Amino acid sequence: MNSLVKKIDENISAMIQISMLNLIKLGLKYGIFNKLTIKHHYADILSSSPIRNKPLLKSLLDTYVEVGILEKGINEIKMKNFSYTITLNRESVQHMLPNWVPIFEEIYKMVDYAFITPEHPKILMDFDKDADFWDMRLSLEFNSNYRKLIASIGKLKDGMAVLDLGCGSVSPIEIGRLVGPNGKYVGIDFSPGMLSIAESRIRELRFDWVILRELDIRTIIPRNKYDIVIMSFVLEYLPTLSKVINTAMNALNENGKLIIIEPFRENYPQISAWEFFEKLTKEFTQFPSKFAIRNSLEQTNYDFKLHEIGKSVLVVEKL
Ligand SMILES: C[S@@+](CC[C@H](N)C(=O)[O-])C[C@H]1O[C@@H](n2cnc3c(N)ncnc32)[C@H](O)[C@@H]1O
Repeated sequence: MNSLVKKIDENISAMIQISMLNLIKLGLKYGIFNKLTIKHHYADILSSSPIRNKPLLKSLLDTYVEVGILEKGINEIKMKNFSYTITLNRESVQHMLPNWVPIFEEIYKMVDYAFITPEHPKILMDFDKDADFWDMRLSLEFNSNYRKLIASIGKLKDGMAVLDLGCGSVSPIEIGRLVGPNGKYVGIDFSPGMLSIAESRIRELRFDWVILRELDIRTIIPRNKYDIVIMSFVLEYLPTLSKVINTAMNALNENGKLIIIEPFRENYPQISAWEFFEKLTKEFTQFPSKFAIRNSLEQTNYDFKLHEIGKSVLVVEKL
């Protein structure tokens, strides 16, 4: 289990480092930094830039402020002296699952099109329109690695009942396989595109115990109880967490476990560099904080024990 945790945390750290590099490349490529070596009015920078998608340009400038490359006064903005160190040590490199790197390169290239218009067809980040691209992302070794960790934490085995909120196209197979045929896996997702990919695999494999529902997890009221509820890389698409955390706790059996996988923002400085790119998916809000999750748990009527595993996993035990 230790090595699965290390792999998640080290790869997330590397994803943030690559995002920082890509963010810096954008500033150089679009002449943002050289213009801002002297102070400018923020509004002038926005209006004079040839980048047509002004909200995205604003989001880029704000990200530069957050990571410490630019500083912003009331109306003005300018560059700071900035340095960023990437450390490659043998201990962390041995945990790399590097097939996410080309995906990050693709996303970096999409920004050029997004700067023209947010609706550009070459942006492949919509769960429905671009379900195939999302499926490629979710099929990576990195993603299978955290599903293995979920299986190990939840002690998943034949006969168990699992509810997966925001299940995507791959977990219904990888997690579903572990609980059937005497168990039950219910996957909820609001994207028909993602679900139809999952559905065709389930039919092919004849996993009759895997049930998929096209619903918004913000409004569901589950009727049944489950041993395990999973939320992996989904809280980042929700503007508020309390309601869905309450739903997850309601759906758990006594002593059941809610397993949350996310890069919790307190644990990863400069996470906003990665967020800039993820915002190409229109539903993306931000990676959640552990603090907000604990707060939401405290608002439920349930007693719970919260375990933190590494920097990206929270396990909530319902007492
Ligand atoms: C990044 S993917 C993660 C999928 C899966 N949990 C995994 O780890 O492989 C996020 C998924 O959550 C779904 N999603 C996002 N917001 C949702 C919502 N409000 N209701 C239902 N599904 C949602 C998306 O359609 C997408 O399939």
